[in-house]
Amino acid sequence: MKILAIETSCDETAAAVLENEVVISSEIYTQIEIHKKFGGVVPEVASRNHLDKISKVIDKAIKNADIKLSDLDLIAVTYTPGLVGALLVGVSYAKALAYSLGIDLVAVNHLNGHILSALIENKELRPPFITLLASGGHTMLIEVRDYTDFNVLGKSRDDALGEAFDKVARLLGESYPGGPQIEKLAKNGKNTIEFPKSYLDKDSLDFSFSGIKSAVLNYINTMKMKNLNISKEDVASSFQEAVFDVVVDKTNLAVKKTKIKRLAVVGGVASNKRLRELINQKIDSKVDIYYPSLKYCTDNAAMIGIAGYYSYINGNRADLTLNAIATNAKI
Ligand code: KG4
Ligand code: ZN
Repeated sequence: MKILAIETSCDETAAAVLENEVVISSEIYTQIEIHKKFGGVVPEVASRNHLDKISKVIDKAIKNADIKLSDLDLIAVTYTPGLVGALLVGVSYAKALAYSLGIDLVAVNHLNGHILSALIENKELRPPFITLLASGGHTMLIEVRDYTDFNVLGKSRDDALGEAFDKVARLLGESYPGGPQIEKLAKNGKNTIEFPKSYLDKDSLDFSFSGIKSAVLNYINTMKMKNLNISKEDVASSFQEAVFDVVVDKTNLAVKKTKIKRLAVVGGVASNKRLRELINQKIDSKVDIYYPSLKYCTDNAAMIGIAGYYSYINGNRADLTLNAIATNAKI
């Protein structure tokens, strides 16, 4: 079965072609440079750029897969969560194309795409496994019982981890997206500042990252008031070590609680080499650990195709009443 997957939930316009669960081509047009000057994603600008690029990105994915539109059997599209105007571009395009080709349509939750993204390149990975999802919008620990059966073990009660990286980077005067900037600064910094680590209840698998963001702001303000020099590198390193300590400890706890010996670490923050180093060092050595390559950590359509394929073979179909939903519908 040939699948065209479409992803437009935030600031990446992406399309991929799959043969069942195997990715044949994957194209991503990123709007990062456009949004950089605003310090974050501007929803209206994102929608307009999706509209401008979607046909070209899809054409390229089809061409690189060496197929024709008429060869397609299924279209998979992200419908939640995300910026509603951005999602609507993909959803409308997908509905029109599925209708004109007379083929089936399946609606995909963006998070399900991330959760299954480690499957793209790791053919030996199969459920049950634990997924640590850390992106700009979400931070979650999920028990993947089956390809379409997800049990949320814990999630952030406030900011997502990537969001915390973006906010701290902004406090340090760094550009959007902040994660890669913090990682770069931290490489040359020392973990010398004690920022609070929020574990919530001892046994909880939930996260909270808003406290540390305020602590960084307080630290910067205090240093400025005292006319003292701020080492951006040390702030970045201390922040990164503090949040990753909590994330790694809670991931270990999830592994212990569920006794599942396979772990996938996914989402934009999973691109961070220091996080991968800590996970590899500190997670129980009996656990097999899987990561997507960098191009499948951040937003892409290949992961939407995989999630769409499994949802479709599980019987799900969307019709032309499909609408975009900004807040997470359900995973
Ligand atoms: O998964 P993603 O592309 O989009 C969402 O679905 O949110 O994740 C984007 C997030 C941003 O917050 C970005 O700062 C963060 O991932 N990120 C990183 C790194 N690369 C991207 N965070 C920490 N270290 C990185 N190297
Ligand atoms: Zn994402």
